[in-house]
This record gives sequence, structure tokens and C-alpha cells, in this order.
Amino acid sequence: MTIKPMNIDPTHCFIAGRWAPCEGGETLALKNPSDGTVLCQIARGSAADIDRAVQAAQTALDGPWGKMTAPERGRILQKIGAIVLENVEELARLEALDVGKPLKQARADVLALARYMEFYAGAADKLHGTTIPYLDGYTVYTLREPHGVTGHIIPWNYPMQIIGRSVGAALATGNAAVLKPAEEACLTALAFGEIARQAGLPDGALNVVPGLGAEAGAALSEHPGVHHISFTGSVGVGKMIQRAASDHIVPVTLELGGKSPQLVFDDADIEAALPFLVNAGIQNAGQTCSASSRILVQEGVYDEVVRRMSERYSALRCGPAMDDLDVGPVVSARQKDIVERYIAQGGDLRQVAQGQVADDAPKGGAYVRPTLFADVPPTHVLAQQEIFGPVQVIIPFKDEAEAVAIANGTDFGLVASVWSRDGARQMRLARALRSGQVFLNNYGAGGGVELPFGGTGLSGHGREKGFEALYGFTTLKTVAAYHG
Ligand code: NAI
Ligand code: MG
Repeated sequence: MTIKPMNIDPTHCFIAGRWAPCEGGETLALKNPSDGTVLCQIARGSAADIDRAVQAAQTALDGPWGKMTAPERGRILQKIGAIVLENVEELARLEALDVGKPLKQARADVLALARYMEFYAGAADKLHGTTIPYLDGYTVYTLREPHGVTGHIIPWNYPMQIIGRSVGAALATGNAAVLKPAEEACLTALAFGEIARQAGLPDGALNVVPGLGAEAGAALSEHPGVHHISFTGSVGVGKMIQRAASDHIVPVTLELGGKSPQLVFDDADIEAALPFLVNAGIQNAGQTCSASSRILVQEGVYDEVVRRMSERYSALRCGPAMDDLDVGPVVSARQKDIVERYIAQGGDLRQVAQGQVADDAPKGGAYVRPTLFADVPPTHVLAQQEIFGPVQVIIPFKDEAEAVAIANGTDFGLVASVWSRDGARQMRLARALRSGQVFLNNYGAGGGVELPFGGTGLSGHGREKGFEALYGFTTLKTVAAYHG
């Protein structure tokens, strides 16, 4: 199989508008998690490549890109979105092969990438400053200005979506970007670089340098020419990024995942809740920052929810991404190992159901049986730590106060949802839950390109998505004019 994302050579990186091998020409093997085979070689970018990319980004800011007006930037983003839409099948296939996600989930990710481009294209010329009443004889106003060179270190679970929300908002606001995709999955990041080139993005406004986290990633986070870093990934690396950024006092946006709960009350519409309860746990094989891995259920409907979730789990089928079953493999043998070690730590728990791996699924694939546990103590390791696999725990609660205490009882705070017909309770809990997003009688419906997203606690800080992201990618200048 030859893999050529948008007809480019995947061993090349994209710097200053040109595709070329990285310095030294070293490559890394990119694996297909559905069968464990090598898909292709990719560039192993080094600190030297990152340095060239940062310089190219600065040159773009000093040149044509920095001089573009907001409507012109918006028009280019719109064009990028249009080219994405012309290539839905190609991009979905790349993402499915690379990440292992079932084809229809990969297609949804392509559409989300296009939506980010459209949203930020339209927003580019709508970010205004304000005027501030001040002393007699003064006019005071604010200007929103780009940070400059922005670094984007993204993970492998949703490459297209995360590129969309992070690079899209950065370019809309006039920043230049250096994108370091994950070593496990970077094909659509390469394709995105080529699409941006075809859309007429000026040279250097976007640069794509694949490579290892400890090499290219660390070099980007430490580079003195980078003025803002957005990172999505593990808590451990998030801490390293924040430390590295502190050397140059550079702002960071950190999106570090979570242990997001759904709270199901006795008065909930269980029928409506069920698909969300399960999908939010098994989508992308549970490798979702906003995965809902804790299901908190009130006593009156507890047995029913356990039974009905179990039925759904038993019907889940796992197989190769291209077979488009309910669940694909996890991203790598290493990730499978991490998840299965967690499942083993649930040996003392009541395991109520598991999905099946298709008989003909390739033996070398990284398949993990979706696993559901019930009666889980809120302090159990499986109820506290992000597993990043298709594993959910069900926890019983008596009343609203206990539900809130359990929901808020982890170090994370990314997403939560409340299933209840009681409007007053919905409003109380929307405030009481420690979480960057709260959904009432839904969970993440519609993808949420427009909805500000980010966490508290170990889930990170800063907001991506929606209009709010534009504030994070700009710095505010106050101008005070005395004219008498
Ligand atoms: P990771 O945090 O190591 O990788 C994410 C990105 O950071 C990749 O591009 C990687 O190359 C880069 N990176 C790694 N080390 C770096 C360093 N020293 N400096 C700069 N960049 C670096 O995540 P990993 O190892 O792939 O997954 C481990 C766990 O992290 C998962 O099991 C999951 O719990 C969590 N995770 C959370 C994600 C989220 O969406 N919030 C996404 C990916 C992982
Ligand atoms: Mg890592």
C-alpha cells in the first residue's frame, strides 16, 4: 500500500511553503493499529527542523502573512475548508488507517475540520477591540493582536479536529503556526499542510514538522522564538510544556483530558440517555479527552441503567477501522497494554459486560474489548484515573449532594452531563459541577465547534473552540490617547 497524503511524500516535512526531507533525513515507522503493520515512514523532525520552522513562521509574520487583512485571512481559511470538503473520503481513509478509528467516525472528524475552518474563517474579521471611557481629554481603546509564532503540539486521537480548533483559531487571528503532530498518527497533519498550501496560505504561515515528542516536541516548547504554545495530551507532558514555557514567560493552553462524569437521576429519560451514556465512553475506542468514563446513577434507576448499558456493551463489535464496526483498535500496542493493565486492576470489581472482537480481526491489531464495571467505589483507581480506552465505570449515588461530591471528586474537570427532567436541579448542578463544560440532557451532541472547551484542575487551562479561542490566540493592547 502506498500512502501519499494529498500526493505528498510522508517522509517530508513542510517548512516555509516547501516539502522536503528533514535535516539528516531520518525517518520513523508509522504503524497501522488495525493490523500492526507499518503503513509508511514519516519524517523524524529534529531541533534543527523546528528551528527552521520557527524562523519561517517569523519570516511570514514579517512579510505577506503579517500584512494580510482579517478578511483576506478568513478567505484563505474558507478555501482550506472547501478543499477539505472536496477530500472527505481521502482524509477519512488516512485518519482511519493511521488512528484506527472506524471510517464513519473518521468522516465525522473531516467534517469537523471543515467546520472549524468555516467557523474561524467567518470569525476572522469579527474580533473587535473596545473603547473605554476615561479621563477628560482622553480617548482609550484596545487592540487585539496576534501573539506571533504559535506552537501546536497535538496528540494522535483526533488529529484533524485538534488541528482545526488550534491552528484554525491561530491563523484566523493572524498568528503563524508550527504544528508538531504525534508520532503515532500524523498523516492528516501532513495532508492539512498541503491543503493549506493549495489554498494559497502564504509560505511559512503554517509549518508541519512530525517527529518524536522528546525531540521535535521538546524543541518546539523550548524555542525562544515561539510566543504561544497550545498542547493537547497527557498531564505529564503538559507539566513539562508549562515548565518549558515558563523559561520564556510564554502563555500556554493545556488540554489534558479528564474523568468526565454523566449523572443520571431517577427522573431522567433513560431511553434518551442510553446512547449518550455508552457512546461517550466507547467513541474512538475511549481515546477521547472528553470521554465520559464515569456513569453516576441514582438508586431508583440503578439496576435498569446497569442492565441496559450491559446489553449495549454485549452487542458492541470491535474490528479494523476499514470494516467500520462500533469500535476500532486503540492507537498502538503500547496503548493496548496501558488499557489492559487498567482493566486488570478492576479484578476486584463487578464486571458486568464486555464487547466482542470480530473473529477475523487481524491478530496484530491493538484490539481491546470494551469493558463495563458496576458498583465501583468512587475512590477506586478506575474511577479516578484517565484510562483512555473503551472502559466505563458505573457508580451508584443516593441524592444530589452525593452525586455532586462524587462528580467533583477527581483531580480533573473537563466535561460533565446531567440527565434529569427537573429544571431547577439542572440549573443548580450546572453551577455546582467543577467542569469546563456541562451538558444538560445530552453529551457532546453536535461536535461543538462553536462551544468553548477546556478544563479546570489537571484537565488544564485556557479555552479552545468557539469564539472564545480567539481571545486566547491574541494579546490585548490598550491605547490611551491624550488630545485635550
Ligand atoms: P503524550 O502527551 O506523550 O503525547 C501528546 C503529544 O505530545 C504528542 O505530539 C507527543 O509527541 C508530544 N510530546 C511527548 N513528549 C513531549 C515532550 N517532552 N515535549 C513536547 N512534546 C511532547 O501522550 P501519549 O504518550 O501519546 O498518551 C499517554 C496518555 O496521555 C494517554 O493514555 C492519555 O491518558 C493521555 N492523552 C490525552 C489526550 C487528550 O486528548 N487530552 C491525547 C493523548 C493522550
Ligand atoms: Mg508520550
